[in-house]
Amino acid sequence: MPDRVLVCVAWPYANGSIHVGQAAGCYLPADIFARFQRMIGNEVAMVSGSDAHGTPVTITADQQGVSPEDILSKYQNEFLKTWERLGISFDLFTTTHTQNHVEVAQDMFLRMLEKGYLYKDTMEQAYCSSDERFLPDRYVEGECPHCGYDGARGDQCDGCGRTLDPEELIGMSCRLCGSSPEIRETEHFFIRLSAFEGRLLEWMRGQDHFKPNVRNFTVGFLEGGLKDRAITRDLEWGVPVPVEGYDDKRIYVWFEAVIGYLSASKEWAQRSGDPDRWEDFWRKESRAYYFMGKDNIPFHTVIWPAMLLAYGDLNLPYDVPANEYVNIEGQKVSTSRNWAVWIPDLLDRHDVDPVRYALAANMPETSDSEFNWADYVRRNNDELVATYGNLVHRVLTMVGRNFERTVPDPGELDAESLALLDTAERGLEEAARHLNGCRFRNGLQAAMGIARAANRYLDSKAPWRAVRTDMGDAARTLWTAMTVINCLKIALCPYMPDTSEKVHGLLGLDGSAEGEGWSWERDALRPGGALPRPKPLFTKLDESIIEEERARLGT
Ligand code: MF3
Ligand code: ZN
Repeated sequence: MPDRVLVCVAWPYANGSIHVGQAAGCYLPADIFARFQRMIGNEVAMVSGSDAHGTPVTITADQQGVSPEDILSKYQNEFLKTWERLGISFDLFTTTHTQNHVEVAQDMFLRMLEKGYLYKDTMEQAYCSSDERFLPDRYVEGECPHCGYDGARGDQCDGCGRTLDPEELIGMSCRLCGSSPEIRETEHFFIRLSAFEGRLLEWMRGQDHFKPNVRNFTVGFLEGGLKDRAITRDLEWGVPVPVEGYDDKRIYVWFEAVIGYLSASKEWAQRSGDPDRWEDFWRKESRAYYFMGKDNIPFHTVIWPAMLLAYGDLNLPYDVPANEYVNIEGQKVSTSRNWAVWIPDLLDRHDVDPVRYALAANMPETSDSEFNWADYVRRNNDELVATYGNLVHRVLTMVGRNFERTVPDPGELDAESLALLDTAERGLEEAARHLNGCRFRNGLQAAMGIARAANRYLDSKAPWRAVRTDMGDAARTLWTAMTVINCLKIALCPYMPDTSEKVHGLLGLDGSAEGEGWSWERDALRPGGALPRPKPLFTKLDESIIEEERARLGT
């Protein structure tokens, strides 16, 4: 019986392009994981969508003088293209602005209300009397009480990173009109998070397979005590509150966005023609993985699990392999200063698999990591071109020249060849262990270890000499190398799917690498089988691109 694996991926706000940090920290790891799970034969659903509501989207819409719907559809289209180009294999990438999502979110709200986990209370909120509206936290600006930074927002200070309440700001001003807001009382729904503190703590303490940083952070968060939180806001853009008298309020974006995992699973099931199929992943034996950056951790390890418990009869996360951040050329990403590498722009100039490779090699799995152009060029030239590409190309060119482009007959294998095949098998197993444990950098290392071993083997066997002195030995060596390349193709397929398909074809195999899955047959390459004309897999990059690319940053 295959396992079921639900791959949940953080929902990007529909107000800006995807950058390298989000790709390496969230979308690529999720995709590599999903591809691997499919290859080993598991049943996978990988879902996400645009986070359509909340103030990030309305602020961008205001700035550009268009409606929030316009911004949403612009970025939803762009995201879909980005996934296509970057090879992110979502089973569904929807938005939170669908009728289905509204229904699922409202159902969750009402069920929690019925069960007594939501209650009404009043709170104080900034109100702008000239705009005649309550101001969301992000619409209030002022000086940070902690560090004195002047452009701090009512939710957070970009100067020192601390989270804030609007009334803490020194000299509050309204972002819309600049006047100074007053503080007024307003009524909202609150979630009784305090009711779940004990159960969540017990649950989290038992999750030994979580990354230590994610678990420690969550345990610390829970031990600090859970305060009830307001889950509605005075806004027009968002999911309506399904209660009479709340027409000018909406469900808070974080409360409804996480529900997207469930609503997207339902939409996916609906579209697949089996509307109940979502239950296999949410109510039956199944593991749910949530991929995201570290700033999203509490929403996925505390708030969302509390909501799932409150609703009842839905699976809790199995793992939350959250990542840290990626710095660019030694500096923090800043989208406002354009200190960022944007994926659509990057893919205009670079091939997708070298990009995926470099990002996977630099994933911020256990600490912040670094993307820089010297490293990109080095990895492309030394690791992809010289180690992997060259291995494939020299083996297939020798076979082409000396064996009329057919798979050579290895005859009886010698000890050195058998040892290489064993090394490859162990490398493949090691890669699988790491992939299963969401250690993608280590998985990539294990895979590339196979390529390095194959290069050492070739250097030692020197088939380019053997073709003149001992054709039998040359045939044995080249067949063995081809068979190991076939193994490498599998190990690298989750990371560089296009390249693996190319290699699959160059080895003269039918079907696809993806379709063949995670199974390496040592006798897959039949002697005498016809081979296509070899083509290089990767292109060497000129060092000059390092400066060219650096010059694009921060401008
Ligand atoms: N839009 C949020 C962000 O970019 C992430 C939301 S994840 C979700 O930080 F699950 F809540 F949707
Ligand atoms: Zn500050």
